[in-house]
Amino acid sequence: MKQRIAVIGVGPSGITALKNLVDQGLEVVAFDRNSEVGGNWIYSDEESHSSVFETTHIISSKTLSQYADFTFDDFDPTVSDYPSHDELRNYFQAYANKFNLYQFIQFDTLVVHCELLDKGTWEVTIEKGGVRKAERFSQLVVCNGHHWKPRYPDYPGEFTGEFIHSHNFKKAAPFAGKRVLVIGGGNSACDVAVETSRVSAKTAISWRRGYRIVPKFFFGKPTDVVAEGTKWLPIKIRTLFSQILLRIMLGDNKLYGLRPITNNFGSLHPTINDELLHKIRHGKVKPRLDIKRFEGKKVIFEDGKEEEFDTIVACTGYWLSHPFFDKNLINYSDGPVPLWLKMFHPTISNLYFIGMFQPLGCIWPGAELQSKLMAQELGGKWKRPENIAALCQKEMADPHYKQINTPRHTITVDFHLFVKELKQHLPKNYLSKVSMAKRQEKELNHSQ
Ligand SMILES: Cc1cc2nc3c(=O)[nH]c(=O)nc-3n(C[C@H](O)[C@H](O)[C@H](O)COP(=O)(O)OP(=O)(O)OC[C@H]3O[C@@H](n4cnc5c(N)ncnc54)[C@H](O)[C@@H]3O)c2cc1C
Ligand SMILES: NC(=O)c1ccc[n+]([C@@H]2O[C@H](COP(=O)([O-])OP(=O)(O)OC[C@H]3O[C@@H](n4cnc5c(N)ncnc54)[C@H](OP(=O)(O)O)[C@@H]3O)[C@@H](O)[C@H]2O)c1
Repeated sequence: MKQRIAVIGVGPSGITALKNLVDQGLEVVAFDRNSEVGGNWIYSDEESHSSVFETTHIISSKTLSQYADFTFDDFDPTVSDYPSHDELRNYFQAYANKFNLYQFIQFDTLVVHCELLDKGTWEVTIEKGGVRKAERFSQLVVCNGHHWKPRYPDYPGEFTGEFIHSHNFKKAAPFAGKRVLVIGGGNSACDVAVETSRVSAKTAISWRRGYRIVPKFFFGKPTDVVAEGTKWLPIKIRTLFSQILLRIMLGDNKLYGLRPITNNFGSLHPTINDELLHKIRHGKVKPRLDIKRFEGKKVIFEDGKEEEFDTIVACTGYWLSHPFFDKNLINYSDGPVPLWLKMFHPTISNLYFIGMFQPLGCIWPGAELQSKLMAQELGGKWKRPENIAALCQKEMADPHYKQINTPRHTITVDFHLFVKELKQHLPKNYLSKVSMAKRQEKELNHSQ
């Protein structure tokens, strides 16, 4: 069939996929169940796709969290080092406006099913206003995000208080005066514990292992900016450097009553938080061990400690989920994820995943480079290697970081190495600021 490309989702990954495909003069339609651009960064009081809460600020600094084609300086140079969800939503919407993307997006449209027909065409079933219809596409680009489907923990016994997931945590106010237990040691858990501790009667945090809590600033600079200075070093040395620096700055976890650290930096997704350790040392957040079982409102911990809580917030992460695929075609929920450069499928050559990786760093600059590579291929300017299946296996066998085997650690990349790997396949002038200016000039000439 004639080339016609479908993009699922217009969050930070989908908009850059769309922009770069349009730049190549390709016919593209993007679908999103939301009614605006921004994905996870469209905060709402109500249950929605988004998992951010009222006070969320990013954990990667703006310097390392910008599109090369549209930087924060191009958007608003006054944005803070760690922008809020609102500032980011505005940034993503400004990107979509700047590159005239809205005309290619069908909002309030849920992609229900994607089927690969015999001749390699995709049949995409969409639903809008309760009406379903199927459309055919030559290529499918998946940008549906991977932090929206809550993964719940399971413990013996029954907890009779309120039990929610961080996906449903919107603001601290409803927890005023309550006894709150937060489960997890990731970024959601630490943010939620800090926020509830401002208003709760008591906040405790339960960890099943020891985590390093990385501050947002070192020497007055954002942590990732400082770390960037060592990006030319092998990962092993960088890891050692980070461990030593953190140890000097923060001391041992036991000083805070926290579980000891037993893993190397990078073997877990990093937790970045400036306030948790402060709250612990001010008695506002109480460290707890793993949960053994529930008895009504009582929680019994690993060390036998028993304590009552009104609310538990499980900050236990998210499933990788693609509900629009038949499970026998694509199912990455239980890992592993064999995709070369986290985007090319070993056998289905007209299927791309953009932004489905977990960097030690920010997602959208990498998604932008993935998009450029995809657009180069679909624009006929780059050819993929023939041994994709072998490359997928190699990437899985030789990950950037050897991580612990828990569900969240199946798609990790090192930000700097990943960027380097993607750039190796792109032409020198991969930035499309110039081509964009030309396109706008052409459009202007047409309209005159
Ligand atoms: C609290 C929180 C903080 C975070 N902080 C950071 C950070 O500091 N730095 C960072 O890099 N990452 C962070 N992340 C990770 C986050 O996933 C990325 O920032 C980013 O949102 C990924 O963009 P995306 O476009 O891939 O996915 P999303 O932002 O999730 O967007 C996916 C889009 O696809 C649409 N969609 C999904 N399914 C369908 C369907 N079936 N049909 C139609 N449309 C569909 C959704 O409506 C949505 O608009 C954070 C995540 C959370 C939860
Ligand atoms: N401010 C921000 O920018 C911000 C805020 C929140 C989230 N995020 C991002 O959003 C993404 C998701 O983060 P997240 O914190 O929601 O999830 P996450 O990174 O998957 O962390 C989940 C945590 O829960 C633990 N856990 C999982 N199952 C458990 C169980 N059954 N019992 C006890 N503990 C369990 C995990 O332990 P293991 O260590 O054993 O895996 C881990 O500590 C990440 O990319 C994160 O960086 C960013």
